[in-house]
Amino acid sequence: MKLKHWLAGLMAATFVGAAALPGTAQASPEAPKIGFSIDDLRLERWARDRDYFVAAAQALGATVNVQSADANEQRQISQIENLISRGMDVIVIVPFNSKVLGNTIAEAKRAGIKVVSYDRLILNADVDAYISFDNERVGAMQAKGVVAQVPKGNYYLLGGSPTDNNAKLLRDGQMSVLQPLVDKGDIKVVGSQWVKEWSPTEALSIVENALTANGNKIDAIVASNDATAGGAIQALAAQGLAGKVAVSGQDADLAAVQRVVAGTQTLTVYKPLKLIASEAAKMAVQLAKNEKPNFTTQLDNGTKKVDSLLLDPTPITKENVKLLIDDQFFTEAQIYKK
Ligand code: GAL
Repeated sequence: MKLKHWLAGLMAATFVGAAALPGTAQASPEAPKIGFSIDDLRLERWARDRDYFVAAAQALGATVNVQSADANEQRQISQIENLISRGMDVIVIVPFNSKVLGNTIAEAKRAGIKVVSYDRLILNADVDAYISFDNERVGAMQAKGVVAQVPKGNYYLLGGSPTDNNAKLLRDGQMSVLQPLVDKGDIKVVGSQWVKEWSPTEALSIVENALTANGNKIDAIVASNDATAGGAIQALAAQGLAGKVAVSGQDADLAAVQRVVAGTQTLTVYKPLKLIASEAAKMAVQLAKNEKPNFTTQLDNGTKKVDSLLLDPTPITKENVKLLIDDQFFTEAQIYKK
């Protein structure tokens, strides 16, 4: 056999063999293998994201391997590396820390695996796609909802997790509404803190300290999600201020919607989780099949302009809570505790 034919034969064998090596994606278009790496299932919404995502992906013929990192940076990295070694076709990631996954994602790409950033944009990494809601719009909605109730007064800014890129986008959106009112002197920001891991317990102690430091003279709290809003309202209640201080939120957690009805939380922002989860499942399956998903924009993540699909959020106040029932997100009995 001529040397060149022998070498060609050797290369072909290697190539086929490589497809079976661990750590190389085996594009199986008819039954895509999807990994779903989630920061923390302890916050209410993420269990719903997971359930909707798995149901939608399975309906499209895919199998899904879900991993939750319980808000632990190193555990999430190890879990993603494990998904790579299991030969996923696509890995969908809700990052605990948006800034530390560059190398891990580069490893996935070298293995031929596509990567989708879910709801939170992963920075400085070669991600293939990003799907979320317009988080600056969410922040603007939060601030507008609070300003509608308290156009003038002392404001406290209760941010999201400092490791979550969304927390910064939400704050940018909030300040686009608040800064002009601060400049006019209508609003005074008496304090501002980021809340580690979006923890309600952290939020409780931050707001307790803020109330003490300001002699309870806080008229509004711009909280960036419902879990932290809940902690803030617990601190307010201890001072007999629940329902007297405007508080924003996000995610339409059940407890938060019940607080909106009760009047202790001014608004939440509803992000249809079934929509984002099923659109993400569709996007992952399309990428596994090398089909092009539909995108609405591109966002710069520090490494590239990432093809992105941004969905629409909706502010929920006492006046339009019924929308959640019509959308089958909650039942009337759940919201009104019947
Ligand atoms: C953010 C997300 C919020 C909320 C928060 C807590 O990234 O934008 O909707 O879910 O995480 O998990």
